[in-house]
Amino acid sequence: MEKDMEQMFQERIDKEIRIEPKDWMPEKYRQTLIRQISQHAHSEIIGMLPEGNWITRAPNLRRKAILLAKVQDEAGHGLYLYSAAETLGISRDEMYEQLHSGKAKYSSIFNYPTLSWADMGAIGWLVDGAAIMNQVPLCRTSYGPYARAMVRVCKEESFHQRQGFEILLTLSRGTEAQRRMAQDAINRWWWPSIMMFGPKDDESPNTIQSMKWKIKRFTNDELRQKFVDICAEQIKILNLTIPDPDLKWNETTGHYDFGPINWDEFWQVIAGNGPCNKQRLDARKKAWEDGAWVREAASAHARKRAERLAQ
Ligand code: ACO
Repeated sequence: MEKDMEQMFQERIDKEIRIEPKDWMPEKYRQTLIRQISQHAHSEIIGMLPEGNWITRAPNLRRKAILLAKVQDEAGHGLYLYSAAETLGISRDEMYEQLHSGKAKYSSIFNYPTLSWADMGAIGWLVDGAAIMNQVPLCRTSYGPYARAMVRVCKEESFHQRQGFEILLTLSRGTEAQRRMAQDAINRWWWPSIMMFGPKDDESPNTIQSMKWKIKRFTNDELRQKFVDICAEQIKILNLTIPDPDLKWNETTGHYDFGPINWDEFWQVIAGNGPCNKQRLDARKKAWEDGAWVREAASAHARKRAERLAQ
C-alpha cells in the first residue's frame, strides 16, 4: 500500500505537479523539507546580524536607508519560510528551539565577521549572489508553499545583489584606500561564499534523493560552478581580483577552473567552530529571551479578544 502511494507520489513529481500541504507525501520527503526550509529560514534571520552591525555606521543617509531596507527584507524572508515550513506540521516554537539548541543548522556564511563597510558590498555581491544562484531554481521546487515563497524572495535578493555590486563599484573607483578596502573584503568573502553551496556532490548525503524528488533542481557542484563562471566575468568590471590563482577559463569544459576549497574549514564552521558561531547564536537566544514579554502580551491579548467574541 505504502509502496503504491510512493510510486504515485513519484509520478506526480515526474509530471511536475506541485505537492501541496494536504497531499499525501512520504515521511522522509516531509522531514527533508522541514530540514531544508527551516535551515533556510534560520539563515535569513541569522543573516540579519552581520549586516545589522553596519546600519549605524553606513557612510551616508542613502546607504543607511538601503541597508536598513535590505535587513528588513531578510526578516521578511525568514517569516515567509517559517510559514512555509509550518504547513508541514512543525511549529515555529519547535523550529526556534532547534536553532537555539544547536540542533538545526543555518548557513555557514553567517559565521564570518563584517570588518569594514566594504563587507556590505562583498556580502551583497557574493553572498546574495550565491543565494540567488541557489534560490532561483527553488522557485520550481516540488513543494508548492516553498516554491511560491521563493518567488518574492528572489526578486528582493536580486536587488540586494545589485546594491552590493554597486557599493563595490563605487569603492573600486574611489581612492587607493577605498580600492584596497574593497579588495580586502572580496579576499575574505570569496571562499566562504563558494562554500555556501554545500559539500561536493560525492560528499553530499541528501542530493541524490532531493534531486529525485525535485526539491533540489541542481546539485551543489553545478550551482557552485555557475556562480564561479558569473563572478569571474563580473570581477573584470570591478577591475579587482578574485583571490584564487588557479581561476582560469577552460576552453574544453566551457567553464572556469578554480582552486581547491578548504573543506576542513567548511566542516569546522558547520560544527560550530567558525569565527562567529557563538556570537550569532548568543545574539539570537538573547533576542528570544528579551522578546518573551511581547509574546506573552500578544497571547494574552488574543485570548481576551477570543473570550470577548465568544460572549
Ligand atoms: N551551511 C550550513 N550547513 C550546510 C551548508 C552550508 N553552507 N551546506 C550544506 N549544509 C549541511 C546540510 O544542511 C546537511 O545537513 P544535515 O546534517 O542536516 O543533513 C549537510 O550539510 C550535508 O549537505 P547536503 O547533503 O548537500 O545538504 P542539502 O541537500 O540540504 O544541500 C543546501 C544544502 C544546498 C544549502 C540546500 O539545503 C539548500 O539549497 N537550501 C536552501 C537555501 C539555503 O538554505 N540558503 C541559505 C543561505 S542563503 C541566505 O540566507 C541569504
